[in-house]
Amino acid sequence: MTEGSEKKTFYISTPIYYPSSNLHIGHTYCTVMADAMARFKRLQGYDVRLQTGTDEHGLKIAQKAKEKGVTPQEYVDEVVSGIQKLWKTMEISYDDFIRTTEPRHMKRVQEMFRRMDAKGDIYKGKYEGWYCTPCESYWTESQLVNGCCPDCGRPVEWASEDAYFFRLSKYQDRVLDLLENHPDFLQPETRRHEMIEFVKQGLDDLCISRSSFDWGIQVPGDPNSVIYVWLDALTNYVTALGWPDDTELYDKYWPADVHLVGKEIVRFHSVIWPAMLMSLDLPLPKHVLGHGWLLIDGGKMSKSKGNVVDPVFLIDRYGIDALKYFLLREYTFGQDGVFTNEVMLKRMNYDLANDLGNLVSRTVAMIEKYRGGVVPPARGEDETDRDLRETALGAAPAVDAHMEKFSFNLALEDIWVLVRRANKYIDEKMPWALAKDPEKAEELDTCLHNLAESLRIVSILIVPFMHTTSEKMRVQLGLAGQPVRWDDALTFEGVGGGAAVQKGAPLFPRLDIEKELAELEAVKAKTMAEAKAKADAEAVKVELKPEIEIEDFDKLDLRVGTIMKAERHPKADRLLVFQVRVGNEARQVISGVADYYKPEEMVGKKVILVANLKPRKLRGLESKGMLLFADDGKRLSIVTTDAEDGNPVG
Ligand code: MSP
Repeated sequence: MTEGSEKKTFYISTPIYYPSSNLHIGHTYCTVMADAMARFKRLQGYDVRLQTGTDEHGLKIAQKAKEKGVTPQEYVDEVVSGIQKLWKTMEISYDDFIRTTEPRHMKRVQEMFRRMDAKGDIYKGKYEGWYCTPCESYWTESQLVNGCCPDCGRPVEWASEDAYFFRLSKYQDRVLDLLENHPDFLQPETRRHEMIEFVKQGLDDLCISRSSFDWGIQVPGDPNSVIYVWLDALTNYVTALGWPDDTELYDKYWPADVHLVGKEIVRFHSVIWPAMLMSLDLPLPKHVLGHGWLLIDGGKMSKSKGNVVDPVFLIDRYGIDALKYFLLREYTFGQDGVFTNEVMLKRMNYDLANDLGNLVSRTVAMIEKYRGGVVPPARGEDETDRDLRETALGAAPAVDAHMEKFSFNLALEDIWVLVRRANKYIDEKMPWALAKDPEKAEELDTCLHNLAESLRIVSILIVPFMHTTSEKMRVQLGLAGQPVRWDDALTFEGVGGGAAVQKGAPLFPRLDIEKELAELEAVKAKTMAEAKAKADAEAVKVELKPEIEIEDFDKLDLRVGTIMKAERHPKADRLLVFQVRVGNEARQVISGVADYYKPEEMVGKKVILVANLKPRKLRGLESKGMLLFADDGKRLSIVTTDAEDGNPVG
């Protein structure tokens, strides 16, 4: 925050989403939180900037476009317009939406690359590792889980390419100091400790380019390389502010107050991004906050399983405010949470229809019935009145304190403490009984006044979470058109009576939970069955590579060989090193099959070898040729023959 004669500023960002498919409820969770925080700060008078966007480059996007038969740009344009539509439906109040394919972003990323290079922080080298194509990540041997990608669990392949590297290792000590000595830079604590351990193990320099595909921002001066997605992506937080050539917004809002990110990308935001900024001598963001995941059926939502929850479906059925309330009320920031229809429906019914909706309709109805629709002033105060007033006055400071910690669920609970107190107050005061006794007229005035006052405060406090419901409440309370100010939630006198209430439709319809649940489960079963049918159909569909000419095939020199010796690669758990006899020649050949065969099982097998494949080094050892294996998508099986070794195959 920048203080001065101008408004204090508050810059909050969401991650920029991959437009690889439509977003599900898990993605919307982060954006809903960021939006609530932005609205909260605006309510408190800050000059807020909420930024979101899309991360559009990389191999995965290029592959998806190819599958659909369109250009990558056409592909992302379509998905991104769907994402923007979703945010509109969800009433996300973003101030900027940055797309990494926009010229304003691309030219600034290149400038960042140039500056890091000029600083001596970029060098050219070779990148090797286990590569997961869907995740676009290289992994080291020790990071693999059961030989597969630790993020998505899919098979990885050994890959190597010319690449540019960022000297991340140079910033290791400064990043460690940041994490250890500025505890509020990264929260929650568990993530901070994880990152400290990660940095302590030593930071390798970071590969920041790729030459194996071209859907990306070109490396300045090297038409064969594109900047790898994380440098491209992280930089969005400053390029959208105009850095470095148009610095008005940058000067105003940078450094960001908060980068809100999911737990799996905390590493990029709290280690790599600060190091890049250090290289450029730019100020660091003030806070990185890592939230947990919404899980379903015990795991991550996955399109292929068909268990993704579609936010638009829920909004159409229950309304945007009910959905936002549920997401923010049910889950604890920083922890994973399980999404179930039942929990969602119960929250909507109990908290919204029963507690809040009822309170509003009962209050308005009683003011209409007993006081001609005009809120009376308070006359005197007894113990019960005082208790309600104190609860009402305690709500805003409690909300403030919890929002400061991004505890959205507790902030909402603070508001509901007041809602429930007010409902209980009605039961205690029994206004219908007071109305029967002319001697109790003043007590009834106070009672109705206090209820209207409590609801006025609630209508202010819920603005960040459910602004449409707040507006509806204020119409019913006779406050429409009046400015909504945070400070007005800190007083109980408020209107002091006189407002003309106006009965309206119930704020939230009461749901028949059993019936809704049955319908939602039927929809889910149907989508899951459809996804399974699609996956099964795809599994039997054999995708052939494009046709080749006989001359292409003739280029291969396939030979029969005998495996004489087999052992594990000393530096790679997944590789086996074979000594193969081909006629009177002995060759060393390396294959990534240690997960499927023990070395001793392979000795003596008559195999088929691509004998004229260009030799290459795999983790320090030379491999001359390649053995043929059949791949059923689950395991590799060696192709064998009963022919004599040395014989040509064709
Ligand atoms: N493009 C990168 C981020 C670059 S930021 C400089 C990326 N994109 S993503 O689309 O895969 O994920 C975006 C965000 O959505 C991440 O913060 C991720 O944690 C979040 N979520 C995706 N699925 C989620 C759940 N099921 N639950 C909660 N958040 C989830 O990563």
